[in-house]
Amino acid sequence: MDRLGTLQRTHTCNELGDDHLGEEVVLMGWVLRRRDHGGVIFIDLRDRWGITQVVFNPELNREVHEKAHRLRSEWVLAVRGRVEQRPGDMANPKLKTGTIEVLVSELRILNTSKTPPFPLDEDVEVSDNLRLQYRYLDLRRPEMASRLIMRHKAIQTVRSFLSDNNFLEIETPVLTRSTPEGARDYLVPSRVNAGRFYALPQSPQLFKQMLMISGMDRYFQVVKCFRDEDLRADRQPEFTQIDMELSFIHEEEIISITEAMIKAVFGATRGIELNPPFARMTYDEAMRRFGTDRPDTRFGLELVDLTDTLRSCGFKVFSSIIDKGGVVKAINARGCATFSRKDLDNLTEFAGRFGARGMAWIKIKDDEWQSPITKFFNEDELTAMGQALDAQPGDLILFGADKPAVVQQVLAELRLELARRLELIDPDTFNFLWITDFPLLEYDHDLKRHTAVHHPFTAPQDDQLELLETDPGKVKSRAYDLVLNGNEIGGGSIRIHQRDIQEKVLRALGIDKDEAEEKFGFLLRALELGAPPHGGIAFGVDRLMMLLTGSESIRDVIAFPKTQKATCPLTEAPAPVSRKQLTELSLRPDWKEK
Ligand code: AMO
Ligand code: AMP
Repeated sequence: MDRLGTLQRTHTCNELGDDHLGEEVVLMGWVLRRRDHGGVIFIDLRDRWGITQVVFNPELNREVHEKAHRLRSEWVLAVRGRVEQRPGDMANPKLKTGTIEVLVSELRILNTSKTPPFPLDEDVEVSDNLRLQYRYLDLRRPEMASRLIMRHKAIQTVRSFLSDNNFLEIETPVLTRSTPEGARDYLVPSRVNAGRFYALPQSPQLFKQMLMISGMDRYFQVVKCFRDEDLRADRQPEFTQIDMELSFIHEEEIISITEAMIKAVFGATRGIELNPPFARMTYDEAMRRFGTDRPDTRFGLELVDLTDTLRSCGFKVFSSIIDKGGVVKAINARGCATFSRKDLDNLTEFAGRFGARGMAWIKIKDDEWQSPITKFFNEDELTAMGQALDAQPGDLILFGADKPAVVQQVLAELRLELARRLELIDPDTFNFLWITDFPLLEYDHDLKRHTAVHHPFTAPQDDQLELLETDPGKVKSRAYDLVLNGNEIGGGSIRIHQRDIQEKVLRALGIDKDEAEEKFGFLLRALELGAPPHGGIAFGVDRLMMLLTGSESIRDVIAFPKTQKATCPLTEAPAPVSRKQLTELSLRPDWKEK
């Protein structure tokens, strides 16, 4: 192995071009590929910036050429050499440095490498676990590195945008107490306060409200949040928010300032010019037309309500569901009358995963409506259905009948699945959509009480306070979410800034005076000491980056993400701890050691 000594890198691996011909340069990086062409050895040298071809010619320097014979993938090198034009037919137009190569006169091997557990220079299927176990190798791949670079650009853009707009970046505690954002907490036992626990923040919600009460008036933070919930492609146990809060504000200003921020991010990272204002839709409309509060509006296949049309139809499955307060909705899958029995069984199985008890269908053929259930409908019902769904020959109608929540979920998922199968989604379109007028509360049948749809500090709409006591489920809130291509990338609200209203909402959530005092006493007191009207929003950085980089999962845009089981294969966290540590924390393990 050679020493780096005082040798200094003069250029990165994407910098050299025709302007540098004849110059002596020093490059450092990793061996990506090695080719031996009848004596002359070519190495693609790679660093974070790019790739440069370096050449070892035995006629130029026998000793260096001899040494280059030993080089293998991922060895770490420093090379000194002269920049030369590549012979015309050897130029590589795909490479930024493709017109030149560096003729090496000095080679230093700074480190060797064992054969990597997966190749870094080709697109081979590698298990996620292996990639995460050797994440540092995975991140050497240009595709991965470019995502981290874009993430950096996005965050820098946000920081300067918000700073230019008079927001203060203020840090808030990580060791704190529980904030109710709807997930389980990660708890940290306190050694010096035996039997007591900190919670890692699910978000800095209450601290940012405290900062408004302090008079900070515009706050932001790029902040880690922690939620112990079931993980999916768009959920990690720790994730990053761009968290904001403003005083003396209403919805419109928050919406327009964050639209300008998102526009700046898209411009800086992808060179895409967005044209706010973004579209808006109420929660009720989104649920009615798409069955979800985060609709992907890049394609149609909207839900059509047939409950009234089919209330007294002869198909007992439907009419009895409607009798019991259920609904019947349908999607017109345009041009899908060609679906085979197998396709339909397949879709029925798919719908079943989301709770569907069946998936009735009708194929619209030129001369008839083909389906085992057509015979149960009379002429009027068929005509009304045809009109409501704009059914044309060649179409396929898919039905969902059940409780409203089940039908919405099933058809929302079916709609997405159909769009994927029919390739209706243009990956280069970015459809932003604000969802507004959310309900304040929803009834949780397991807990047998209302829970907050957003969080308990969200303000009800001004004219709806009375309803809170009479019909709490009907109250609308001042919350808004930003949806991008079917993903919730941000959410926020105008907050309650008066104690009496906060107490009313806590009461509606089934939290009595004592519990309110115990959990939120500090907030309630602060609201009585000059709390200004305020509101804010938080964006999920990981989701935003996933969409900006066209990645499948937020794991692809996080340097060191966790698996579906919330583990880190690289460090093997979470890890067992010694009994001594547990005793110090006054924790007595009563589980058996495996
Ligand atoms: P909310 O809970 O909606 O609001 O979170 C804001 C945004 O954070 C992202 N997000 C996640 N990203 C990855 N993994 C997760 N587990 C995860 N959970 C949420 C989403 C979401 O839109 N305090 C409020 C904000 C406010 O009211 O100002 C809050 O945290 O993109
Ligand atoms: P059955 O009479 O149960 O054989 O059902 C006839 C058709 O209706 C089948 O295609 C079922 O998949 C469908 N079906 C049954 N229950 C439902 C439901 N809850 N929603 C939609 N379709 C259903």
